[in-house]
Amino acid sequence: MSANRLDLDWIRGEFPGLAHRQQGAPVAFFDGPAGSQVPARVGDAVRQYLLHTNSQHGGLFEVSRASDAILDAGHQALADFVGSPDPGTIAFGANMTTLTFAVSRALARSWLPGDEIVVTWLDHEANVGPWQQAATDAGVVVHKVPVRLADGTLDLAQFHEMLSPRTRLVAVGLASNMTGTVNPVAEMVAAAHEVGALTYLDAVHYAPHAPLDVVDLGADFLVCSAYKFFGPHLGVLYGRRELLESLAPYKLRVATNTLPGRWMTGTACHEGIAGALASIDYLNDLGRRVQPAASNRREALLAALRAIQAYEQDLSLQMLAGLARLPQYRVWGITDPARVAERVPTFSLTHTTQTPAQLATQLAEAGCYAWAGNHYALGFSEAAGLEPHGTLRIGLLHYNTPAEVDRVLGELARIG
Ligand SMILES: Cc1ncc(COP(=O)(O)O)c(C=O)c1O
Repeated sequence: MSANRLDLDWIRGEFPGLAHRQQGAPVAFFDGPAGSQVPARVGDAVRQYLLHTNSQHGGLFEVSRASDAILDAGHQALADFVGSPDPGTIAFGANMTTLTFAVSRALARSWLPGDEIVVTWLDHEANVGPWQQAATDAGVVVHKVPVRLADGTLDLAQFHEMLSPRTRLVAVGLASNMTGTVNPVAEMVAAAHEVGALTYLDAVHYAPHAPLDVVDLGADFLVCSAYKFFGPHLGVLYGRRELLESLAPYKLRVATNTLPGRWMTGTACHEGIAGALASIDYLNDLGRRVQPAASNRREALLAALRAIQAYEQDLSLQMLAGLARLPQYRVWGITDPARVAERVPTFSLTHTTQTPAQLATQLAEAGCYAWAGNHYALGFSEAAGLEPHGTLRIGLLHYNTPAEVDRVLGELARIG
């Protein structure tokens, strides 16, 4: 186990929601993959924005200028978060799904019948359905990378065989919100680029667990959602500047054509952007606590996410060791402790006799908040024959503690 560099008392003190009590007793949140709790400063920023800086974009008066400064700061903060040197490469939208429908429609304008795209059986439906629908409209062939059910990993050999000079796009997630698998995305991006295809990376599940670096990955597009990394409900799109400038989004004639506004249709959720900025500020503070010498926000964010990654691997090991003692539960994903670096701390379980909803209900009564269902990772749920019940998903974030892991393991054992 690594030395924990996170100050859990400070961290948990930042999140008022964690203090929730059910019938007088503390609860434990294992629903992070659905959405995280937020630091107080995120709520404060939303409130502050609405009560004191509320204005539309581009006004020639003081409050509108103050509002625009917050929006600009939001683009800069999220650029630092994903590792882009250019705030113009960040667009905000309602959520990842909506942004993906927008990009898929724009990309499909140039697809020709007989072209091909690649999606996966492991991805969340939001990184599959929009591409399949765009492909149907354009007469494009869709290949789907199979997933190995034994450990929840993608079949890379098959992926490589699917690529051809006709491949226009590869859409894949950095981490699965079902099995927790971290996909070898850098390798997949390089292979896609070799045949001239673009890449669309879903970082929604990965973002709260480890550092992002769009430049290192060579990503053409990358999407994430602030409500999974301690912010409000807001989608975030990164795109390479040349692509965002050259592709034609579906948009109004009167709307701005310059970045970053070009891909942001209608009025943005300003208070959401203010809140997302505050969530980055929280991670920045966390990073400076673990690495006081960090010389800028990007460095502090990297320090924060690296420390989170190390801490969460310890939680994963604890969880895997505990689950290994509960043979009545099947873990869908990597279970070998030696491969802990290939997963994030998201655990999908099924039970020999009880449905995921029955399990989640009993856990909820015991104050352990987990999720039941297919989690919109429909491809995996179908491939594994898990429909219509899906799995019980226990998701850990850096604000979870070893004591909480013991608690949920104890409850799973008590259920029988
Ligand atoms: C891996 C993954 N991708 C995409 C999404 C969709 O994100 P949004 O709710 O922002 O549309 C989710 C939401 O749960 C997700 O977990």
